[in-house]
Amino acid sequence: MGVVASAPAKIILFGEHFVVYGEPAIVTAIDRRASVKIQNRDDHKLRFHSTTLKYVGQFEKNVFKVERGDEREARIKFEPVKQAVESVLEKHGERVGLDIEINSSIPIGAGLGSSAAVVAASTAAAGALLNVKLSREDIFRITLETEKIVHGNASGIDPAVSTFGGAILFQADTGFKPLDAKVDVPIVVGDTGVERSTKAQVEKFRTALQEYPRIVENVMRAGREIVLRAVDAFKENDLETLGDLMNINHFLLCGVGISHESLDRLANAARRAGALGAKLTGAGGGGCVIALSKEEKLQTVLEAIQAAGGRSFTARKTDEGVRIDQS
Ligand code: PMV
Repeated sequence: MGVVASAPAKIILFGEHFVVYGEPAIVTAIDRRASVKIQNRDDHKLRFHSTTLKYVGQFEKNVFKVERGDEREARIKFEPVKQAVESVLEKHGERVGLDIEINSSIPIGAGLGSSAAVVAASTAAAGALLNVKLSREDIFRITLETEKIVHGNASGIDPAVSTFGGAILFQADTGFKPLDAKVDVPIVVGDTGVERSTKAQVEKFRTALQEYPRIVENVMRAGREIVLRAVDAFKENDLETLGDLMNINHFLLCGVGISHESLDRLANAARRAGALGAKLTGAGGGGCVIALSKEEKLQTVLEAIQAAGGRSFTARKTDEGVRIDQS
């Protein structure tokens, strides 16, 4: 019994880093999901079990006890989910104990929004189990607040994509707009397995901007043009142009020191294998590349990325945001 909810991963198609300085970005949900099952308990504890990470632990009020896995790591992973579930419990009015089981097919710490997907799914599942009516807006807000507290990252891209799904045009001053993108977007995601820190990468970009303001401002202006051109290409179902734009976007990021040799290696392998375009996605410095590919080339591109040392999987844009899968 209990309730199962799930939410999708995200990729940034265009505009990472420049988006921090007010430029537009295009992001999309992909068909890799985090799934969370929540059941009632007959005590007041919140007990977490991540089948993916093999961590088990419980919170009794604010005291955390680990049953399996590294205590510090487990706490860091479970804390945001606890915060979100507690916001739902507050709306519910009565403190009850819950068993929370997390099962995700989204690579962790690779810039694919796994933490926001887990939090959005947990919020929806807790709401459904406790009969607390939550709109998508509510789920977005709770997920965003949690991300802000835990990661200090306020852009809101991950919570928006995990909650609403689909392709989204985002800009700081205008917010989120669903993108007219009926086109299927066949992507191969290649994970370098190289750890990186979003904070350190954002800092690196800031340093480049401070050192060479007139040059990097022009790089960002080019980034904006890429996004504007991509919006049209989506409308026209023009995959070739989207591929070209991905390449240009990648090399702009390379130019300002945001890439990594592992990312360049996987992106090059994808292009050589016939991808229409490839770029790093997210913070760079490690993490993932995305390669856009015609249907008939997907498998070749997937294998080429593997041969170049990456873990790869195919992904598609999905319009399915957070949803209840079983109640
Ligand atoms: O790799 P991620 O998902 O942490 O992406 C970071 C994206 C940046 O544009 C670099 C930062 C941001 O907050 O938008």
